[in-house]
Amino acid sequence: LQSITIRRPDDWHVHFRQGEMLANMVPLTSRHFKRARVMPNTDPPILTGAQALIYHGEIMAVAPAGFETKMTIKVVPETTPAIVREAFGLGIDAGKLYPDGVTTLSANGVRDFKALSPVFAEMEKLGMVLCLHGEDPGEDVFCLDREERFLKTLQWILDKFQGLKVVMEHLSTAEAVYVVEHFPTKNLAATVTPHHLENTLNDVIDGGLRPHHYCKPIAKRPEDRDRLIRAVTRLGQTKFFLGTDSAPHYRESKECDCGAAGVFTAPLALPLLAQIFEENGALGQLEAFTSVNGANFYGLPLNEETITLVREPWTVPDEYSGVVPLRAGKEIRWQVASDLG
Ligand code: NCD
Ligand code: ZN
Repeated sequence: LQSITIRRPDDWHVHFRQGEMLANMVPLTSRHFKRARVMPNTDPPILTGAQALIYHGEIMAVAPAGFETKMTIKVVPETTPAIVREAFGLGIDAGKLYPDGVTTLSANGVRDFKALSPVFAEMEKLGMVLCLHGEDPGEDVFCLDREERFLKTLQWILDKFQGLKVVMEHLSTAEAVYVVEHFPTKNLAATVTPHHLENTLNDVIDGGLRPHHYCKPIAKRPEDRDRLIRAVTRLGQTKFFLGTDSAPHYRESKECDCGAAGVFTAPLALPLLAQIFEENGALGQLEAFTSVNGANFYGLPLNEETITLVREPWTVPDEYSGVVPLRAGKEIRWQVASDLG
């Protein structure tokens, strides 16, 4: 097979940042993706609908025609039902919750989930989606156990708010895959990143420290990665969809004493996914993962445009505007046809 044409994909989890970084990042995502769900962990964060609209304006100012964003507000301990209602009224259809301190710019995040019950109830009532960074922030929790330990909090939320739609973001463990696959209703779904389908902890810390492979949640065991691959490539699966979690940090912020968490993948996410799906004999399932399941979960129309990937090797650049991408300097067998020179 030399080429494959699929519906134009969406990225349901991306970090664009602000200022010059934003201006460099948006075009790299819009080149391949029709829509993107933009994360609110900017500095300062996006806490209200009004702030989300301003941020949306900043993105649109540097985006080519035809690109669309879905904005999120950050759900923090200070979030109220009124804030949620107002944001929803302004067209913000999701809130992203970061447990306290688990990742980049998540200080002053959530520890007391029960205290947010009125907010979850309001989101449930409105039909606003709760996007979860699913890691237990406890000081006593070992870093590789944070996602698995969060599953009891997830279960509590799903039990208590049975109409609430929840996305577990960037899955990294077999245990979390199991929970999502076996959940009895359509209210729970999950995003999966290209790097969690590619890397294990070995790629982060074995045979040399690789800061550009460091992200939260941390890449785990080969069994976890293989379980993720099975989940996303399974024929007819509807619960898993692409959220790249493309999270750019300048090289200096990664290659230093206390490096930032985040893997940058926007320009190569789609080619790499084609390669991974092909290696697993599942190119036919790529479109469901990149272009169908997410839109269906969010209740949005499927994209009518298409994109063509061709089996033509290229080498990933060493840097994009000061940011080192996943697989820098390495070859990927597929590329997007419109990128061909
Ligand atoms: C993200 C970032 O850099 O903003 N980092 C990461 O390691 N994934 C935040 C996040 O999604 O956790
Ligand atoms: Zn993220």
